[in-house]
Amino acid sequence: MQLLVNRETHEVDVGAERTLLSVLRHEVGLTGTKYGCGEGNCGACTVLLDGEATRSCITPVASAAGREITTIEGVEGLADASALHPVQEAFIQEGAFQCAYCTPGFIVSTVALLARNPNPDREQIKAALSGHICRCGTYPRILKAVEAAAEQMAKRTERTA
Ligand code: FES
Ligand code: FES
Repeated sequence: MQLLVNRETHEVDVGAERTLLSVLRHEVGLTGTKYGCGEGNCGACTVLLDGEATRSCITPVASAAGREITTIEGVEGLADASALHPVQEAFIQEGAFQCAYCTPGFIVSTVALLARNPNPDREQIKAALSGHICRCGTYPRILKAVEAAAEQMAKRTERTA
């Protein structure tokens, strides 16, 4: 089947029952998307499917064929291909990780959140990220990073308006 991942088409010869996560990591070679629980409970495997945050560990690969898949490796292209996405910059500036295993999932979900709601309040951020687990407990810094990213993106929008 054909998969459109980060704006590139990939031909993969896999059973339709394989998970999207497994195919992304082992056939397409994009290992930024992480395997955590494998049951849809931790958020480590989150990718964007047509812009919507999706748990790739419980998504059959066949259901992603013909749709636009964006992984953490493709997130920078959502802003400026030569630069980090403002969400990535904010996570670095706020030190919003320790081991960083959870970070790709948090960033991908944050990108989706800010695309549909550029100015979320803290409760909306918590709700959007509630399915993500950070075993290192960096939640306060993650929340600050999301708020900082929203501010930066608003400033950029003002500058280009
Ligand atoms: S690995 Fe997919 S939600 Fe945990
Ligand atoms: S930074 Fe280690 S799991 Fe979140």
